[in-house]
Amino acid sequence: MAGIDYSERIPNNVSLHENRRLQRALEDWQPKFLEWWRDMGPDGFQAKDVYLRTAVSVDAQGWAKFGYLKMPDYRWGIFLAEPEPGRLVNFGDHKGHPAWQEVPGEYRGTLRRLIVTQGDTEPASVEQQRHLGRTCPSLYDLRNLFQVNVEEGRHLWAMVYLLDAHFGRDGREESEALLQRRSGDADKPRILGAFNEKTPDWLSFFMFCFFTDRDGKYQLASLAESGFDPLSQTCRFMLTEEAHHMFVGEAGIMRIVQRACELMREHKTDDLRKHGGIDLRTMQRYLNFHCSVSLDLFGSEISTNAANFYTAGLKGRFEETKKQDDHLLKEATYGVAELDGDRIVMREEPALVSLNERLRDDYVADCARGVARWNEVIKKHGIDFELKLPHRAFHRAIGSFAEARVAPDGRVISQAEWDAKHHEWLPTEEDKAYIQSLMVPVTEHGKFANWIAPPARGINGQPVEFEYVRLA
Ligand SMILES: [Fe+2]
Ligand SMILES: [Fe+2]
Repeated sequence: MAGIDYSERIPNNVSLHENRRLQRALEDWQPKFLEWWRDMGPDGFQAKDVYLRTAVSVDAQGWAKFGYLKMPDYRWGIFLAEPEPGRLVNFGDHKGHPAWQEVPGEYRGTLRRLIVTQGDTEPASVEQQRHLGRTCPSLYDLRNLFQVNVEEGRHLWAMVYLLDAHFGRDGREESEALLQRRSGDADKPRILGAFNEKTPDWLSFFMFCFFTDRDGKYQLASLAESGFDPLSQTCRFMLTEEAHHMFVGEAGIMRIVQRACELMREHKTDDLRKHGGIDLRTMQRYLNFHCSVSLDLFGSEISTNAANFYTAGLKGRFEETKKQDDHLLKEATYGVAELDGDRIVMREEPALVSLNERLRDDYVADCARGVARWNEVIKKHGIDFELKLPHRAFHRAIGSFAEARVAPDGRVISQAEWDAKHHEWLPTEEDKAYIQSLMVPVTEHGKFANWIAPPARGINGQPVEFEYVRLA
């Protein structure tokens, strides 16, 4: 099972050749996917050789092979994690029953919606990032961008496989629609807000990988707990790829912080704009923006949908199976931050309807660990500054805080104070123009743009100055 069959037109480890109907459906979708990739994938680099990793097995050890590849030749396919024999539904009303290998009829619509919503984010991020290659800070970073892009393409394949394999005609229609929506398009936008935002520069890209791909990690992790076994197996393998996307984000921001600190010490100023760096205050504003739009992706604090997904056994909590409780949550409560006049208070709410907020809490804790690692770099340089996560109620468009004006420190403020101060908290037009002015491509081997430090090491044991993308 672990090995992937690359002799087939669609590489897979699901014995696709044994299911002719499904094989035909996917082979029919494949050229449409490639057309989408050529139209909406990385602009200007489709014919270049890129040093990419491709999955060759789904084992934890040694699943990837590295080599030069033109992106349209990437072997997108269907890779599921190893099945767990005897796996059960581990939570909700069906707890203790054997995990479903087929979609339970009563949950067909709900499950389809969950899969489509996840699937829609995958091509969306490729669309958002499609122009970034032209302004890469180095060949190393260019390669990482493309690795993320081809893997998001594969994640789309993963969701399309589930739709085509388990949802018949409806599933095939959804598969088509996933290629037709476009990020930021007024008429046919992507489903979720953060995936219609622009990713116009590399600072935004790294922030996106850190914050928004991490939302992906938490969504996938809770879908990996699903009682619908094919979804669980699919998401478990996607998580191994997602880890790299978050690494790209965290390490990218860390290198920008590192460079900022070097420039601050060299020039004895924290105004780095005349020295071509990105100052920490600007980074804080970008952080505030990307964190807040990513927090929205978890949905409303109180959600009967979330409760229903859980009770049905479709979407669990983060690390559901490791938790020591009844996995039913009918009696349990959970502390939720809520708006009470001009204050934010904690209230105990029924645990089932609070599952979005609980997942958001797991996410925030994970983000905080990354921010702490950035702050260590600042501290090591003897600089008195700390990057901070904004309060969860800051700049929200979804949930109970959407109506309120809240400062990054969690104070509920007036519209007047918001109007006066928001330019200190969110990227301004001036910030955006400055960051854009830094977006000049650097493509010499081993060279890096002035605003970002080189990485500590290269990819797959290769040196930092390795030719990660052959542009000649
Ligand atoms: Fe993804
Ligand atoms: Fe990702």
